[in-house]
Amino acid sequence: MALLSLSGARWLAAYLQPLRQLCANGWLREADVDLCLRQLHAALRLNRVFAQVEARRWVADDMLALQLRCNGNARDWRAGQHVQLYLEQDGVRHGRSYSLTSVATDGHIEIAIKRQPGGRLSSLLLDHLEVGEVIELGQAFGEFVWPQEHNAVLLLAAGSGITPLLGLLRDALARGFAAPVTLLYQVRHQGQQAFAAELQALSARHANFQVQRVFSGEGDRLSAERLAALQGDHLRVCGPRGFVEQACGWWHDAGRGSSVQSESFSPLPMPAETETGEVRLSFARSRQQVSGSSNASLLEQAEAAGLRPAHGCRQGICTSCTCLLLAGTVRELRSGELFAEPGQPIRLCVSAPHGDVEIDL
Ligand code: FES
Repeated sequence: MALLSLSGARWLAAYLQPLRQLCANGWLREADVDLCLRQLHAALRLNRVFAQVEARRWVADDMLALQLRCNGNARDWRAGQHVQLYLEQDGVRHGRSYSLTSVATDGHIEIAIKRQPGGRLSSLLLDHLEVGEVIELGQAFGEFVWPQEHNAVLLLAAGSGITPLLGLLRDALARGFAAPVTLLYQVRHQGQQAFAAELQALSARHANFQVQRVFSGEGDRLSAERLAALQGDHLRVCGPRGFVEQACGWWHDAGRGSSVQSESFSPLPMPAETETGEVRLSFARSRQQVSGSSNASLLEQAEAAGLRPAHGCRQGICTSCTCLLLAGTVRELRSGELFAEPGQPIRLCVSAPHGDVEIDL
């Protein structure tokens, strides 16, 4: 039984600065302080973000919106950013990134979770996470922002790419953004349209906002011609990597300017090395040595070796998988750049070994 309400815990969190200082100076252990704080409310912690589930709402056949209220440690979050959600399953801690579809100043946030075929974590969240439960989140990250200038904005979303764009859109319209805004939203079939009723209501309420739907399961798709017919000086695009790359390519080919921000969430393409071969992977803290490949990410190879590195987005965005390179050279999979400085932080999900390596894992 909690001794404080969540509002009370949020109020108290503002007065914990002296305790934070004592922990930062090594006079107290944060874990011990957290153990005491959680007796007052399950979500109360010194620095870590915990949130209570306040409501669940299905917004598409395969997507659930979760209304959460954070404990007071969520700092400067913005709709359109992403947060890591952590959950323990069979004693293993898992993390996944979800977009913030709304952020309020009183600690209320909303995230939307799409069911992934075969995804055990998404099924756990969608089917078993109940109102009243408390979950841990990371701090928000991500640079997606609404344009500063008051010119026409074009939003392109595919699948769950709608979620960060909806966060930006809700905020912009609520702030009175008056230039034309067009959203083209591509999904496979009608039932996968998330937030359909809300988008309809927004376009009815705001004369400057219109939404177009594209159902790829019916043979319809975004094309260069269709993009050319859509109004917009600024482009914000989010969806699977192929959709995003194609849309950005068409936009640039048409010479429509550089005000573009894009985010994609499919697995990274794995550029092949000219010379592939077996390499030696040493995971120092785990005292493991395994043979690996220069054509797979270190995250995948560490997992294949039975290790459980912290991770989230698996795309080099969230920094959860950052580890120190102790020896050897790694190749950054997005840029092909090589890094060989000992002690350098690397992201395991977007780094592959370029020869034998030793990692602080
Ligand atoms: S898992 Fe997010 S950066 Fe590697």
